[in-house]
Amino acid sequence: APKKLWGGRFSGAVDPLMDAFNASIHFDKRMYAADCIGSIAYAKALSKNGIISKEECEQLVSGLTDVMEEWSSGKFVIKAGDEDIHTANERRLGELIGSVAGKLHTGRSRNDQVATDMRLWLRDEASKVLAHVKELIAVTVARAEKELDVIMPGYTHLQRAQPIRWSHFLLSHAWLWQSDAERLEQLIDRFNVLPLGSGALAGHVFNIDRAFLAKELGFRDYIHNSLYAVSDRDFVAEFLFWASLTMTHISRVAEDLIIYSSGEFAFVKLADAYSTGSSLMPQKKNPDSLELLRGKCGRVFGNMSGFMMSYKGIPSTYNKDLQEDKEPMFDAVDTLSGSLQITAGVLSTMEIFPDKMRASLSADMLATDLAEYLVRKGVPFRETHHISGAAVKMAEDRKGSLSDLTVEDLKTLHPSFEDDVASVWSFETSIENRNAPGGTAKSSVLEQINLLKTWLSKK
Ligand code: ARG
Repeated sequence: APKKLWGGRFSGAVDPLMDAFNASIHFDKRMYAADCIGSIAYAKALSKNGIISKEECEQLVSGLTDVMEEWSSGKFVIKAGDEDIHTANERRLGELIGSVAGKLHTGRSRNDQVATDMRLWLRDEASKVLAHVKELIAVTVARAEKELDVIMPGYTHLQRAQPIRWSHFLLSHAWLWQSDAERLEQLIDRFNVLPLGSGALAGHVFNIDRAFLAKELGFRDYIHNSLYAVSDRDFVAEFLFWASLTMTHISRVAEDLIIYSSGEFAFVKLADAYSTGSSLMPQKKNPDSLELLRGKCGRVFGNMSGFMMSYKGIPSTYNKDLQEDKEPMFDAVDTLSGSLQITAGVLSTMEIFPDKMRASLSADMLATDLAEYLVRKGVPFRETHHISGAAVKMAEDRKGSLSDLTVEDLKTLHPSFEDDVASVWSFETSIENRNAPGGTAKSSVLEQINLLKTWLSKK
């Protein structure tokens, strides 16, 4: 059996099943670059401190660069005994540069190493995910701008409520993603601190220059307590919550669009690129992309809750339970990356049917406007609400439309109704009246578009 990195004190062999159970190389190899980059900085810090010579440092750096190159070109061969990415890289480094490789791990533990690798890896990957969020916002804003004058029913309780701009609906989702983007930026900054130089748990024995290490690796600071440094995975928890919340937002827009693409609504039609058919029913065109997005939200929540269950009972410092942190993190990154791009694809390619949206508006959706008409005539709103409600009932009793009531009909409900009540029966007017910032009037929607565009264009 191959020699274990930690095999000195062991005499018996490890059960092969245990070996496989213990191994993380098949998934943590994704962090190969972070592992090599962290080690290169560490070698430099060792030489800066005089713990290794300049020449030894150069050998280590060049060997680690070769190891990294083997990974990126697909030439790295994982061997039996390569327990994780850290042991695999150190084993290979030894094969390439000989015994000086054994100096690299001086004062370091896989405990501070793995925590550093994960932060480096997630910092990079989360930045890519962030770019996908911004792209999704950009696509949504562009669409909102293009379709500014399309109007549709706005819903509460899925009941037709008030007319709104289609753009206003689109932007409501863009704003959620904008808050997701900000949250992600904040959390990347929060976890961008260095664990390396903490040793196994108690601290570094050769007073390594941790400020230098932090700077080399682009961390804004180092972590100020070694026990905390090796055991803290709050950044994984926070990222998984972020991912879950962002997937919730994606799931909710998916649900909206699934409803809007049904035959009964027919407000939107997904592009063929994001739909599938039925193996039995020839007429079917199903919004599978949206259903998958909704479903994947559950998967990401599973990653978060699964990780939290592993995390919650761990005693202080490093325990092997912590190896369970990586797969949920990787899976969440992959799922978010795919979901954000698919959402952007669906949103930018679907067809909309403005006529169908408009035909779904009905005069009863202007009942609030009817009340507001009386408010403008000086009637207290609470009264006008009742009067307009009575008008709705009158129209319903006659099996007619609210807008078909004559001024005479309305006057029986309140003397303030006059001929100009006719102006209430316009969906456009209703929309334009909601012109306070944040409303659905054109000016407010344009303001939102400008704000989001400005935000997108900075940095
Ligand atoms: N593969 C391990 C992990 O992912 C690396 C750290 C192992 N440390 C240890 N003391 N066994 O957590």
